[in-house]
Amino acid sequence: MTAFVSHACLLALTIVPVLAQNRPRPALDYAFFKDRVQPILLDKRPGHARCVTCHQHGSPPLEPLAAGAAIWNEEQSRKNFAIWKMFAVPGQPEKSPLLLHPLAREAGGDRFHAGGKHWKSRSDPEWQTLAGWVRGQTMGANRAAAVRVLQTNAAGDNVHVIDPATNRVVGIIEDIEVPHGITIAPDGTRIYITDEALRTLDVVDAKTLKVFQRIPLSGRPNNVDVSRDGSKVYVGIRQAPGAVDVIDAKSFKNVKSVPVKGEIHNVYVTPDGKYAVAGSIAASAISVIDTSTDALAWTLTLDAGIRPMAFTRNKDGSTKEIIVQLSNFHGFVVVDFAARKEVRRITLPDVPGHEKETQGLQGSPSHGLAITPDGKMLWATSKYYDSVAAYSLPDYQLLKVIPVGLHPEWLTIPPDGRQLYVAIAGDDATAVVDIRKMELVKKIPVGAVPKRNASGTLLTASSN
Ligand code: HEC
Repeated sequence: MTAFVSHACLLALTIVPVLAQNRPRPALDYAFFKDRVQPILLDKRPGHARCVTCHQHGSPPLEPLAAGAAIWNEEQSRKNFAIWKMFAVPGQPEKSPLLLHPLAREAGGDRFHAGGKHWKSRSDPEWQTLAGWVRGQTMGANRAAAVRVLQTNAAGDNVHVIDPATNRVVGIIEDIEVPHGITIAPDGTRIYITDEALRTLDVVDAKTLKVFQRIPLSGRPNNVDVSRDGSKVYVGIRQAPGAVDVIDAKSFKNVKSVPVKGEIHNVYVTPDGKYAVAGSIAASAISVIDTSTDALAWTLTLDAGIRPMAFTRNKDGSTKEIIVQLSNFHGFVVVDFAARKEVRRITLPDVPGHEKETQGLQGSPSHGLAITPDGKMLWATSKYYDSVAAYSLPDYQLLKVIPVGLHPEWLTIPPDGRQLYVAIAGDDATAVVDIRKMELVKKIPVGAVPKRNASGTLLTASSN
């Protein structure tokens, strides 16, 4: 006993002075590792094999990715963190094997790494990100609210979360078989996703990306939107006779099924929040619901099934036009909202020399619309020609046609209006188009047959 005590004292005596002269050792942040470091371990650098390709077999090990998975799940990320933090010396990037092994020898890196030299200098942004983690950087407050692009996978069971600042996948919402529509709560705390397999509205926590509520619907759902004040969620019911279910966002109760004209494919809340506009393929009808009463205000029947819609605004913010895509029509129709009638019909251009795609069009050669936040440009997809077409607003002049990939579907533009995200159903990818340069900049691999997408600000995880 005595011997033990004196031994402990001796230890304390010898260790304390050493610690005192050392720099403080910052804690290594798990959230930063998960969201910032792991994407580097997954990324493909030209001319190099990816870190994950070798290291999922060991020395030091990364968790093996599940078949078809783009990123690790939570449990795997925790395991990766536990192992890889041992290759970081907290506070000292210049002593951390994680940073030195793949760094060029001339830049102060180790003599040899069997996986090659991935960074020529310490000023490489990836090296700097790793250095930040080693110095104890956390996701911080600015990271608490982040813009995200959400990509559903219509033939899959998950939704990919993309950071538009880096155009990388930073998360996956799991466990929703055949997710259909998706929308973000205005306060950024939740994501609403319609679940075709379970016929529920699934509510996902923006922080954990986990489903925490499944609300039963009156039938198989299609698309979804949320009221501008966040209090109600509108879900299009695709099963006969068709309805728009109204979900109370506080109680999570399905409070009303509004009878409408025909089975509902898409439903949108207008930019001013005053109406929920639902479209039926079977009845070729648009049903306009007054959101103050949740009763049908008016309907309009066109000559073909109603597909995606978008809305232009008057100067006072009220709805000016509904832009409507129709079944078997390679273009869109413009409906004057006040006059309640079709005023214009625009056919997308043929692309000479490009063979027309005819397989699996699902009755909809053009199925995706988006308007830039400044209201000056409209984008529409062409499945015939694997492209997106840009039009100026309000005059509907064709600006450009850009090839993006097989079966382009839905479109979304984040609030800064800089990039257009196109679900490329036939390529299992989300294409990114630079709106100012009008060119395709990247294709991000996502899940099986991506279709609906959405973007907006999420209150994402900080550390824990
Ligand atoms: C071609 C396969 C391959 C690739 C790609 C690869 N590594 Fe390695 N890595 C190895 C092997 C094999 C070892 C063990 C032999 C050695 O140390 O060179 C290793 C060792 C390491 C070590 C251990 C260092 C130590 O002190 O033991 C770290 C850390 C590491 N790699 C990080 C990375 C990172 C980060 C990347 C991507 C930027 C990467 N590796 C890419 C094969 C690879």
